[in-house]
Formats: sequence, C-alpha cells, structure tokens
Amino acid sequence: MNIILLGPPGAGKGTQARRLVEEHGMVQLSTGDMLRAAKTSGTEMGNKVAEVMARGDLVTDDIVIGLIAEQLDGEAGKQGLIFDGFPRTLAQADALDKLLAEKGKTLDAVIEMKVDDEVLVDRVSGRFTCAKCGEVYHDTTKPTKAEGVCDVCGSTEFTRRADDNAEAIRVRLMAYYRSTAPLIGYYYAKGKLVTVDGLAEIETVAKEIKAGLGL
Ligand code: AP5
Ligand code: ZN
Repeated sequence: MNIILLGPPGAGKGTQARRLVEEHGMVQLSTGDMLRAAKTSGTEMGNKVAEVMARGDLVTDDIVIGLIAEQLDGEAGKQGLIFDGFPRTLAQADALDKLLAEKGKTLDAVIEMKVDDEVLVDRVSGRFTCAKCGEVYHDTTKPTKAEGVCDVCGSTEFTRRADDNAEAIRVRLMAYYRSTAPLIGYYYAKGKLVTVDGLAEIETVAKEIKAGLGL
C-alpha cells in the first residue's frame, strides 16, 4: 500500500507516519527529513536548502522530486510507502504520478489531516525530537514519560528545529495554503482523498487513519 500524508506544518504527519512504520512495516519517505540531512552535508546545494528552509519557504520542485526519485529507485521502492510532506505542489503531484507509473506502483490513498491554524502554531513551537532515534515529542501534548529521557531509546539528547519559530511558521502556513492546499481538490477528484480530524488525540487520529485505509 502506498499513501500520502497531506496536511499543514504541525498537523501530525511525522507522528502518524512513524506509527504506520512501526505497526505496518511501511517505509516513511519524508522530504523534510531528507532535506535536513542534505543541509548537514555542507555542499552548495545543502547550504542553499538550509536558507530556504529556515525562512519557511518551499524548496524547488526539481530538488525534492530528485530526492524522491532516488528513493524509489533504491531499496525503499520495493515496500509500502508513506509520502510525508511530499507532494507539496501540483508539479510534484504530477511528477509522483509519473514516477509511480514507471515503477508499476499505484497510489492507494491520500490522508488529509485537518487541523486549525491556532493549534498548529502551538504544536510546532512545543515540538522537540530525540536526537538519536527521531521520536517526536511535545512540551505539553506528548512529553517524555521520564523527564529528559527518550521513551523509545533512552537517549537524553533532544533537538528543536530552526524553522519552528513564529516567523518561519507563518511563512510555512502561507506556503501550505498557496501551494499545497490545492492538492486536496486534485486528489479528491481522483477519488483518493480520506479526511481525518487531526485535532483529536494522537491515538484517535491513528485509529481513524487505519480505519480509512482498511488496516
Ligand atoms: P517538513 O519537515 O515536511 O515539515 P512540515 O510539513 O512543516 O511538517 P512538520 O514536520 O512541521 O509537522 P508534522 O505534520 O510532521 O507534525 P509532527 O508529527 O511533527 O518540511 C520542512 C521544510 O522542508 C518545509 O518548510 C520546506 O522548506 C522543505 N520541504 C519539505 N518537503 C518539501 C517539498 N515536498 N517541497 C518543497 N519543500 C519541502 O507534530 C507536530 C507536533 O505536534 C509534535 O510536537 C507532536 O508531538 C505534536 N502532535 C502531533 N499529533 C498530535 C495530536 N494529534 N495531538 C496533540 N499533539 C500532536
Ligand atoms: Zn530516542
């Protein structure tokens, strides 16, 4: 099964993708994670990407499409895929259709995670991530069980993202409404759209997604 998780910054795409990976052995393809990895490479492309991401703007289509194409050509391409944060523009959606068709794969569903803007700002500003295993937490909605210790791997090192500040969040939301929200209509017209209430608790959202996918 191949699915897209579609939603604004902070909707819970990464959180739910990790659960699907753990429980259903799917592979998460997060363009945000791939770009953050490129950023630390210190290459010219990495530096350019870092600037764009820190502002909250979208990285160019050719870069992200290239990253996804590379993954589909590799090991990941053989498994059930969760596209997390991709596609984000109609051009990316078009490119994904073509890439999947080339591989003889189909897109089974697009999960739209609906969340109010006020909640998004709070979600993103309270987020922190385990530096070792990548588990995503939140200061109030999902703190670690023991203070300062990752529930999953026991690490005591956590990171906060450079683009999780008020100004960048505003730009990210604008980019979402301008470039990504039109994809809701695109996938609805294709009969692929499954809308879930992203405001519910993490467990409840996970159940809704599974029900929507027939898992
Ligand atoms: P990316 O890394 O994709 O970030 P994003 O879309 O802004 O999404 P986030 O990771 O912020 O949120 P999320 O929905 O995954 O929420 P999470 O589960 O963490 O992209 C970053 C940047 O990279 C972009 O701005 C752009 O520059 C570039 N980029 C990436 N892909 C691109 C593309 N395709 N094209 C062009 N540029 C691209 O949850 C958030 C918080 O809320 C966490 O603290 C979590 O614990 C908490 N939480 C989650 N669910 C719930 C819940 N149900 N209730 C309460 N709290 C919850
Ligand atoms: Zn951890």
